[in-house]
Amino acid sequence: MNGRNLVLNLHKMSNKPYIIDFGKIGSTENGFISIAHLQNTPFHIQRVYWTYNTPDGVVRGHHAHKKLHQMIFAVHGNITMHIENEHGVMYKFNLNTPASGLYIPPRHWRTIEMSNNAVLLCLASEEYNEDDYIRNYDDFKRIRSIN
Ligand code: TYD
Repeated sequence: MNGRNLVLNLHKMSNKPYIIDFGKIGSTENGFISIAHLQNTPFHIQRVYWTYNTPDGVVRGHHAHKKLHQMIFAVHGNITMHIENEHGVMYKFNLNTPASGLYIPPRHWRTIEMSNNAVLLCLASEEYNEDDYIRNYDDFKRIRSIN
């Protein structure tokens, strides 16, 4: 097992959402750049998508994933992520800097509130697959009893 796989496995074992600070290069005079790559991301990135122009008051998400790992950034604006794990533990994260991302492991229900100027960027570990979604909350609560 190489070092990266060891880190990957440790992240999977923790099975908790957490913020990763990706750091930034630059200056207030010139602006900044932040970089996500193999060494600082706890999964192989297969897909990138972004969400934007979400009207105030709209709550997105309302689902969990069976196998997907994700890293969520507020590249602009403010995003509040409400996360619940399969045991009912709740987390709340406020994303308001493009230098930090929220890692979400599989099997975590999320609801997403965004300021209407927010741009949510997601790095995902798999291609899009609707079969990977758990969109019914009662089904999500049942996964504990079948695993
Ligand atoms: P969804 O993941 O439910 O968005 P959110 O969590 O922000 O509410 O996706 C919204 C719609 O977009 C849904 O019909 C599926 C579709 N979609 C794709 O076709 N491909 C993708 O990669 C993603 C992320 C969504």
